[in-house]
Amino acid sequence: MLKTLQLYFSVLGLLAGICTAQTTVSVSATASHAIPTSLCGYFFPALSGDGGLYAELLQNRAFQQVTPGTTAALNAWQAINGASLAVIADTKPVSSALPNALHVTIPAGRTGAVGFGNTGYFGIKLTQGSVYTASFFYRFPTASSFRGNINVGLQTTSGQVLASSSISVSGSQTTWTQVSARLRPSTTPASTANIFTVTVDGTAASGQTINFAMFSLFPPTFKNRPNGMRVDIANALQDLGPSFFRFPGGNNLEGGTIAQRWQWNATLGPLVDRPGRVGDWGYINTDGLGLLEYLTWCEDLNMEPIMAVWAGFALQGASVPQAQLGPYVQQAIDQIHFTIGDPATNENAARRASLGHPEPFKLKYVEIGNEDFFASTTYTYRWPAFVNALKAEFPDLHYIATSFPSNPVLSPAPTEYDNHLYASRSGMVQNGFFYDDVARDGTQYFEGEYASTTNDAGATLTFPTMQGTAAEAVFMMGFERNSDIVFAASFAPVLNDITSSQWHPNLISFDAGSVYLSTSYHAQKLFSRNRGDEYIPSTLPARNGTLFWTVVRKTSAIPNELIIKVVNTVATASAVTFSLPFHSVSSTALAQVLTGSATASNTPSTPQLVIPVNSTIATGQTFTYSAPPFSLSILTLTL
Ligand SMILES: *[C@@H]1O[C@H](CO)[C@@H](O)[C@H](O)[C@H]1NC(C)=O
Ligand SMILES: *[C@@H]1O[C@H](CO)[C@@H](O)[C@H](O)[C@H]1NC(C)=O
Ligand SMILES: *[C@@H]1O[C@H](CO)[C@@H](O)[C@H](O)[C@H]1NC(C)=O
Repeated sequence: MLKTLQLYFSVLGLLAGICTAQTTVSVSATASHAIPTSLCGYFFPALSGDGGLYAELLQNRAFQQVTPGTTAALNAWQAINGASLAVIADTKPVSSALPNALHVTIPAGRTGAVGFGNTGYFGIKLTQGSVYTASFFYRFPTASSFRGNINVGLQTTSGQVLASSSISVSGSQTTWTQVSARLRPSTTPASTANIFTVTVDGTAASGQTINFAMFSLFPPTFKNRPNGMRVDIANALQDLGPSFFRFPGGNNLEGGTIAQRWQWNATLGPLVDRPGRVGDWGYINTDGLGLLEYLTWCEDLNMEPIMAVWAGFALQGASVPQAQLGPYVQQAIDQIHFTIGDPATNENAARRASLGHPEPFKLKYVEIGNEDFFASTTYTYRWPAFVNALKAEFPDLHYIATSFPSNPVLSPAPTEYDNHLYASRSGMVQNGFFYDDVARDGTQYFEGEYASTTNDAGATLTFPTMQGTAAEAVFMMGFERNSDIVFAASFAPVLNDITSSQWHPNLISFDAGSVYLSTSYHAQKLFSRNRGDEYIPSTLPARNGTLFWTVVRKTSAIPNELIIKVVNTVATASAVTFSLPFHSVSSTALAQVLTGSATASNTPSTPQLVIPVNSTIATGQTFTYSAPPFSLSILTLTL
């Protein structure tokens, strides 16, 4: 049987060779270079935190950065049974970071539960038996003789109560006090159209006014971290097997204006001390996912941080004048001390220790700004101001420039650059050999953001398509082949809330209830989980061709693995013959194949349309592989 099968395969190979001008790829016996362990990771843009990776379920939980008295200030909140609600600037705010409070009055003549609810980030997913931790601060602005209960609950929008808990309160409480409750839903509702409720008995509390601040509702989190990550999204990211994490942006770092920039020290400590900020796209960041949470997340997933410092430029175009950069440079130095400094000698490092992490975090790469090719005229003075001061303080770190290599000319010369490419399908394929042509002069490259965002007709994709994903895979092969100078690469953006989409396509989409893994997600995962330790040169694919391959060896696997990646960018299958110089080559290989029609996308209605499929193929020192239309294949042989 086995013999017949082998004969069948070789006849097939022969036929393929005769019928098409079939390519034969000779593979070298020796590696050209080691593949950096940092190669695959991901980039974290602003939009992904609140309502996404960050597990907090309540939207507008602390009335941060809103204008008191406006309807917008009540975003995501609604009255229940006629309570009067307003966001006010409290005369005695809960903290200096949070000046606003929810001012609630129970009108006379109401019976039953009266109060308010929060609709979450476009819904709240509730699961039977899970514990949801709710908390808030309250005070009576005017002392009263009221004694009674505040009932905290979870219910469907049609009013079915799923969990509740009561907290006894006194009208004599005129200073802020924090209370909490554990809520355990009795059933799993079919829908995520659920609300978090806070009510009092209308009759008992008639005429009472209560101020509330800093609400929170957390489901169980990834690794049960307090103030942690949403489990399904965290798992999807962990499954990618990332080696690095670039944060806090991206545009998120920059801020729309200088005042709105991301500031590390405003994202630390108790949530009640975090002011939040107006994000670059107009919505408000809670900063609940702050610097310490980012760094802890890196440790949880064993990722290397690629941490950016704000470098004197804001997204709407303002640059800090050269003579005024000093305080901003100091803020960057303080941020790095917080991350890696010695608590015994540095106050910022001591702050880290006081927050429970005395050990320094791992840090090698610091990015100076973001996309400074948009502000290259001022980057010429901002780059040296930051990098010279940081190098003096932290000589062992690597500093990544974010302008175009050699334009402008920067001094001191950067040793690392962050390049970005958003391109059409064909543009992505055409860039497959971009790094092959880059000079080997010691400079290293980080492809910090890339995606195939449009089809060839120029239409922006809503979700990645298999055609675009195959094109990205060609570009990624370029990273592998040139990993002597490309040390890291990350698809962007990674996360998209389909209920409130800001940018697409994205790697992972989600709503309140589920995550949807795109075709590009599966390709990223296949590349990340099938990295080699060293790159093995082989006959180069035609730059203008439609079939591409790379060969790597995993020397850390016993026996060694030879991992061949093959990408077909067109609608017809294409065969390629590999000729391997190794003495012992396994007679079969695992083939992991991602393939679909040109426009096939994984969407909320077809989440599993294109997923990798495993099979066993016949191999040997010479074997022919037929790559299906629009496909990425990973062939793993043992040596
Ligand atoms: C953060 O530090 C800067 C100075 O480096 C300071 O101006 C700012 O007030 C601080 N912000 C918070 C919230 O502590
Ligand atoms: C691809 O490029 C090669 C070398 O420049 C050229 O000979 C060949 O005609 C090109 N093929 C196509 C399909 O453009
Ligand atoms: C395919 O094989 C890989 C490697 O063994 C494994 O990690 C993956 O789970 C398999 N996929 C499926 C769909 O079975």
